Amino acid sequence: MTEDASPPAMRIAGVSHRYGAVAALSGVDLTVAPGECVALLGPNGAGKTTLIGLATGLLAAQEGSVAVCGGDPRRAATRRALGVVQQEMGFPRTATVDELARGAAVRAGQPASAAAPVLTEVGITDLRGRRAGKVSGGQQQRVALAMALVGDPELLLLDEPTVGLDIAARRAFWQTLAARRDAGVGILLTTHIIEEAAAVADRVVVLHRGRVVAADTPAGLTSRLADRTITARTALDDSTLRALPGVLSLRRDADRVRLATTAPEEVLRRWLAADAGLADLRVEGAGLEQALFALTGEDHEKTDAKVQVPA
Ligand SMILES: Nc1ncnc2c1ncn2[C@@H]1O[C@H](COP(=O)(O)OP(=O)(O)OP(=O)(O)O)[C@@H](O)[C@H]1O
Ligand SMILES: [Mg+2]
Repeated sequence: MTEDASPPAMRIAGVSHRYGAVAALSGVDLTVAPGECVALLGPNGAGKTTLIGLATGLLAAQEGSVAVCGGDPRRAATRRALGVVQQEMGFPRTATVDELARGAAVRAGQPASAAAPVLTEVGITDLRGRRAGKVSGGQQQRVALAMALVGDPELLLLDEPTVGLDIAARRAFWQTLAARRDAGVGILLTTHIIEEAAAVADRVVVLHRGRVVAADTPAGLTSRLADRTITARTALDDSTLRALPGVLSLRRDADRVRLATTAPEEVLRRWLAADAGLADLRVEGAGLEQALFALTGEDHEKTDAKVQVPA
């Protein structure tokens, strides 16, 4: 342990992890400070769940080091300081919500009575007596969150915690997380909902094919990359379009071109002057999704990244 007044809640350094021929993570460094919320984004297969698995102690690091709350997550004593929501979480179907929450409290070294306020915190007090096999998918996500929070964790590790939540539940979820974060809890979560990551996270880390390809504030990530995306039907060829000012990426969908640029006004002036037949013009603000597209060259929502084909 260091003497540092505020050691990181999580520090992963030089971590690589393989499943046979598949390199799931390659040389990843990632730190989460106490009171910081970091969103991990990346296409399917990018390595997000593998990274969470290492941080929770489910997987042992094959290369590099993993420390959470100053210790090794493979040790039970260290894991008590963690609150975890896994991507695929199974509950004993006959246990009641209350039993699950009380059990999680005791396993984390808290009194069973810690369960009640947390069920209120995540808005499922009315499900207390319901068996886990009889709550809906979105309600199960909330039970999982309650079990993660009930141990009063120093670090929350949440793998796609908002999957299946309706809009109201999502909003409540982010408010709960923000309150914990403001109370000093470090949070690492994975998500595919980019707008939410942008709104809530202090930092966004983008994984692609097992490597960190960007780490920045949400605003930094978008401003660094593109100002606007412009889509249109045009007679101009790709090389002419790429030569327009500030063009960062260009893609064709059938007869439409979509390009991201840092200089939208200048691009439009020149494009209209060069192509009298320009049609179906649309100009949009480039959000985090476009930023990710520019970084990974893949549509974040749709891609099933082919990470590696085993030899
Ligand atoms: N147990 C396993 N055995 C073999 N390969 C695995 C195993 N778990 C994951 N992989 C592979 O490792 C890579 C990273 O997977 P991982 O589950 O970490 O991705 P992810 O970013 O969480 O994806 P998703 O968005 O789909 O949840 C993928 O190529 C995946 O197929
Ligand atoms: Mg995953």
